[in-house]
Amino acid sequence: MYYLDFFTSVHEQLQPQAYLEIGVAEGKCLRLSRCRTVGIDPGFALVVPIDGDIALFRTTSDEYFSRDNPLEPTQGRPFDMAFIDGLHLFEFALRDFINTERNSSPNGLIIFDDVLPRSVKEAARARATNLWTGDVYPILEVLAKYRPGLSVLPVDTWPTGLLLVTGLDPEDTTLADHYDEIVAQFRRPDPQPVPEDLMDRLTVLQPEMVLESGFLEILRDQREDVAAMRGNLATTLREKLGSDFAPVG
Ligand SMILES: C[S@@+](CC[C@H](N)C(=O)[O-])C[C@H]1O[C@@H](n2cnc3c(N)ncnc32)[C@H](O)[C@@H]1O
Repeated sequence: MYYLDFFTSVHEQLQPQAYLEIGVAEGKCLRLSRCRTVGIDPGFALVVPIDGDIALFRTTSDEYFSRDNPLEPTQGRPFDMAFIDGLHLFEFALRDFINTERNSSPNGLIIFDDVLPRSVKEAARARATNLWTGDVYPILEVLAKYRPGLSVLPVDTWPTGLLLVTGLDPEDTTLADHYDEIVAQFRRPDPQPVPEDLMDRLTVLQPEMVLESGFLEILRDQREDVAAMRGNLATTLREKLGSDFAPVG
């Protein structure tokens, strides 16, 4: 399934009230949003009509999150859906996650792009391919090691895979506290040591299965009751998607 088709269904099922996109580019994904939306990109160049309730910022994600109140455009409402698709280098994606989670609601959904490179060349930090994942993929190992309480679902979308992350804790500072140690361990020089099973997509979920599982409706319907949502989410993830949805790699 093409990632934009998957996103269309996620928006329909989740019906977020506040959506963040880091890396807007031509606006092809941003335009799928139907709610208060914040888009951040130092070099966006829209090629599609954008007519929703959208605030665009021509800046980097680091600069945006260094502002006094990153939730000013949503009148303080935390994001309940976010797409991390800015600079495809490990440390940037890690910082984007730390900053996004801090500004998300506990029942929010954060989606990474580019976690399933199809070749070592596509995963290179020094871009050498047309479609480029860069080295975002170690984020799977990092979340498994440092944030085992998160639910992390790698999804087999075309072209370069998505990673859905729920069970968020905006107050958790583990990743920020260990930032230097994590970057020292997981930012590796090219050629990237991409795990074979990641490139073969052996332990990823099919997008159709994720959309049919009902887990997005649980996030939506129990938005105001985080404890109930977490319980039902855990059951649904286990029963509908199998217990083996932990990060690969
Ligand atoms: C792959 S494109 C985004 C595609 C878009 N999300 C979509 O699906 O239609 C990546 C974008 O990230 C932007 N970008 C690069 N560095 C960035 C940064 N530090 N912060 C935010 N965006 C960045 C680039 O300008 C580029 O437009």
